[in-house]
Amino acid sequence: MSRVYNFSAGPAVLPEEVLKQAAAEMLDFNGSGMSINEMSHRSKAFDNVIQTAEQDIRDLMNIPDNYKVLFLQGGASQQFAAVPMNLMQNKKAAYIVTGQWAKKALAEAKKYGDAIEVASSADKTFSYIPDCSDLAIPEDADYVYICENNTIYGTKFKKLPNTKGHILVSDVSSCFLSEPVNVNDYGVIYGGVQKNVGPAGLVISIIREDLIRDDVPDFVPTMLKWKTQADNGSLYNTPNCWAIYMCGLVFKWLKEQGGLTEMKRRNEEKAKILYDYLDSSKMFKGTVRKEDRSLMNVPFVTDSEELNAKFIAQATENGLVSLKGHRTVGGMRASIYNAMPKEGVQKLVDFMDKFEKENN
Ligand SMILES: Cc1ncc(COP(=O)(O)O)c(C=O)c1O
Repeated sequence: MSRVYNFSAGPAVLPEEVLKQAAAEMLDFNGSGMSINEMSHRSKAFDNVIQTAEQDIRDLMNIPDNYKVLFLQGGASQQFAAVPMNLMQNKKAAYIVTGQWAKKALAEAKKYGDAIEVASSADKTFSYIPDCSDLAIPEDADYVYICENNTIYGTKFKKLPNTKGHILVSDVSSCFLSEPVNVNDYGVIYGGVQKNVGPAGLVISIIREDLIRDDVPDFVPTMLKWKTQADNGSLYNTPNCWAIYMCGLVFKWLKEQGGLTEMKRRNEEKAKILYDYLDSSKMFKGTVRKEDRSLMNVPFVTDSEELNAKFIAQATENGLVSLKGHRTVGGMRASIYNAMPKEGVQKLVDFMDKFEKENN
């Protein structure tokens, strides 16, 4: 078996221990004589899986009792619609646009109400986080929306916006469980799990209970009404059992590693190795304003398309894969999620250094 260092933005690297455990349990989950993929979502065994997963994420994130944890399908993109459908009482919302995902969420919200852009970093290709200390947020806005870590552009909100008392909704898809957060600062936190937490096809939404309402507009599909899912413990219909199981294993792994404080320490250490190199290199340059750099997604470029392509090809030959930047940005991007070991980042930097010396 030969495993590569996988820098994919998502679906992305998962902890090897977790993959091995899933493989070992594939034919016979917990003495049941069947795979987790073959059993009823209403079985006692699966009930234990989802309950344990919920408790573990509650422990990891220190989620207060007045927040529900929902395991939903449709990806983060479906929450772009679910958020306005469930929260737009006044039909007004304020969006901070820091990249493609926030832009898509805003476009979706506009279908349901008066969603306005109150800040943007589009003027500089989303390479920074705008000042959000004093935004013109309408008094009657139902919520303020951010994409907390911008997977494509590699920026991260280091400080949450001043919402002026409004509810904050945050898409944390690419920084989920990468560091401790104060859940009380948010009305809704949601993320597709396929970047930092598990396999694709599951989105976890953590929602303050009072925001889960029955009186949503009639047109809201039953499946997209958070109350439907909350009242049924995320089992209104058949959920993504496999992904919930896998996330549960990752939660246990995170606990064993020392939880989110330890993840933050490791993620800062790993990111520093890469950013320090980028800051010293004459060939490779980071594309993000320093104070806004993500710990998870690190885009970088050379000044030549040809060199970029050569670097990506040679890196791949050396077992450093999925380094091509997003199609809208070009260049390279290294996603260094929780499960990327420090050795992987060190290997990448060593290879970049070697490539730079050979090609200057
Ligand atoms: C920050 C962010 N939000 C939303 C999405 C969309 O997620 P999904 O594919 O689960 O809909 C992605 C990535 O794919 C993302 O990086």
